[in-house]
Amino acid sequence: MASKRLLLLPGDGIGTEIMAEVEKQIAVLNDVAGAGFETETALVGGSAYDAEGAPVSDATMALAQAADATLFGAVGGPKWDGVSYDKRPEAGLLRLRKEMELFANLRPAICYPALADASSLKREIIEGLDILILRELTGGVYFGEPKEIVDLGNGQKRAIDTQVYDTYEIERIARAAFDLARTRTGKVTSMEKRNVMKSGVLWNEVVTRVHREEYPEMTLEHELADAGGMKLVKAPKQFDVIVTDNLFGDMLSDIAAMLTGSLGMLPSASLGAVDAKTGKRKALYEPVHGSAPDIAGTGKANPLAMIASLAMGLRYSFAMIAEADALESAIAETLEAGIRTGDVMAPGSTEVGTSGMGDAVAERFRAKLAG
Ligand code: NAD
Ligand code: IPM
Ligand code: MN
Repeated sequence: MASKRLLLLPGDGIGTEIMAEVEKQIAVLNDVAGAGFETETALVGGSAYDAEGAPVSDATMALAQAADATLFGAVGGPKWDGVSYDKRPEAGLLRLRKEMELFANLRPAICYPALADASSLKREIIEGLDILILRELTGGVYFGEPKEIVDLGNGQKRAIDTQVYDTYEIERIARAAFDLARTRTGKVTSMEKRNVMKSGVLWNEVVTRVHREEYPEMTLEHELADAGGMKLVKAPKQFDVIVTDNLFGDMLSDIAAMLTGSLGMLPSASLGAVDAKTGKRKALYEPVHGSAPDIAGTGKANPLAMIASLAMGLRYSFAMIAEADALESAIAETLEAGIRTGDVMAPGSTEVGTSGMGDAVAERFRAKLAG
């Protein structure tokens, strides 16, 4: 079988620490399942800026474009606060998403049974939770032009960000939402602010038409994004797939993280369109959280969001469904065994660091693949 090329972009802060734990799982896949993964590592974010003068170099972009999949840790940190906007660590991630056309960002929020008491919400609200936030990732206010700070010359400045969505961008994310919902409960909730924003009006119109013309058998509901956020905290299990724009998706997924117990639990997959000729698609797998400067270097970061992002990669880029299932159940069993990092610690559990958690998952993953 042809080798599978994985590009690893650890990034900054806890990014490097959690990527090391993913490498342990890749080693298990190669040793026990003969998966044939070949990895290459490159710099991204602040570490790339320091060494190469840009948060992602053209050479690294080319590696990402050519890889079968890219695993991304996290970028950013106070060290780069003074760096100009277009060279900031975060700009590297935005360039990867935009140039690879990774328009569909899948952010599942699953409450593992063992963590039902780790959330700040009551157990009955989140027990059994399994929802998917589908965030549009290459459009909206993140990329709309003009985007600038203008000096008005009278001692005032004007900051401009522009929210732009074209029909085709909404159509393709809507189709992605319905296709995903088809494999789940069949329900999609679209969130925008059509009461205030023109982009919300078009978003609502296009999602409604795609549903009527192409997916009439599925259920579509609409929420204004502010009320939707409230309902996500009040009664999250009423949702299945939530489809929303780039900025609302960013905020709603961090909110959803706390339904699962910790930001350190939320994986994501950023996917491009399937190429009709090759059947492949560009993909980057990234935890929802950032570089956590407050705990970087302490060995305390939870690597499970990153490890679960690898599981999503096995599923969506390599169709290795049995292996993805095995890795996800290795994570669940580790938590069931009471092995926890500090962010999801509970009385009676055993606290481990980043590396201890990676080892505990790898041990169970190995046993599952071998058995
Ligand atoms: P953050 O996600 O880095 O941290 C928020 C809080 O969650 C912190 O208290 C942190 O300790 C905790 N946390 C996050 N991940 C954790 C993990 N795996 N285990 C345990 N605790 C975890 O968000 P922030 O502090 O707002 O941002 C820090 C930097 O990260 C900023 O520069 C920001 O731009 C960047 N950022 C990057 C990404 C990315 O690379 N994908 C995502 C979000 C933020
Ligand atoms: C995320 C992050 C990024 C975003 C930043 C780091 C560019 O917050 O992936 O959620 O805003 O998309
Ligand atoms: Mn975010």
